[in-house]
Amino acid sequence: RSRGDLVGVRVLVTAGGTREPIDPVRFLGNRSSGRQGVAIAAAAADRGAEVVLLAANIDGAVLEAVSSDQAVRLVTVGTTAELDSTVHAAARGARVVIMAAAVADYRVAEVADQKIRKEDSPGAAPTLTLVENPDILVSLVRDRQDDQVIVGFAAETVDDEDELLERGRRKLARKGVDLLAVNAVGWSEGFESETNEVRVLDAEGDVVVATAGTKRAVADALLDAVVAELNLPES
Ligand code: C5P
Repeated sequence: RSRGDLVGVRVLVTAGGTREPIDPVRFLGNRSSGRQGVAIAAAAADRGAEVVLLAANIDGAVLEAVSSDQAVRLVTVGTTAELDSTVHAAARGARVVIMAAAVADYRVAEVADQKIRKEDSPGAAPTLTLVENPDILVSLVRDRQDDQVIVGFAAETVDDEDELLERGRRKLARKGVDLLAVNAVGWSEGFESETNEVRVLDAEGDVVVATAGTKRAVADALLDAVVAELNLPES
């Protein structure tokens, strides 16, 4: 599908999952493949947007969907701190910001500069002390420009649909975004898979999109909701 309803609109998308180093060879990470965010970037470009994609630890094969797309500028980041320092500058020129990346909530307090070796402390498992990362989305909302539409994601492990929506609405209030895409994740759902099931809540907490399908189809449904928020003049 290719529609022109985002022609000339600058869209910033973050995707993938940040990783926090433990030592030079190890990290704390999450299972986000980046597929949903990359699908959003590709869909936005097909609809005419100028896209910046901040990709955190996404496989080359997943990035292939956008790597030859002239309308998508790809910037790679690794840690939450790198994403934080890149995203604010990128957001400055963007009409739409979509934070699809799974951001590590905590990082390791003291990163070892040498590999942690078992033989250096025989019989004693090391303890990792964690510190909280800044909430990037909250700071983007705080620094938001007039007219900017900011979209967050909430991947939740839940028992049922009611809990999903309830958690989503609480997160919406905490983050102050215009739209929040919520989806259930678990051992086999959401992350890494080719398909997704998503509800999109608007700022009032109403479900404006309920969709299941390929990540590309979910991306287009989400962008429909974004376009509705933009109030673009009819062309
Ligand atoms: O609180 P939670 O991690 O579930 O929030 C998810 C949303 O917030 C996502 O849009 C994610 O990109 C963003 N986030 C962030 N900075 C963090 C944690 C999450 O921007 N430190």
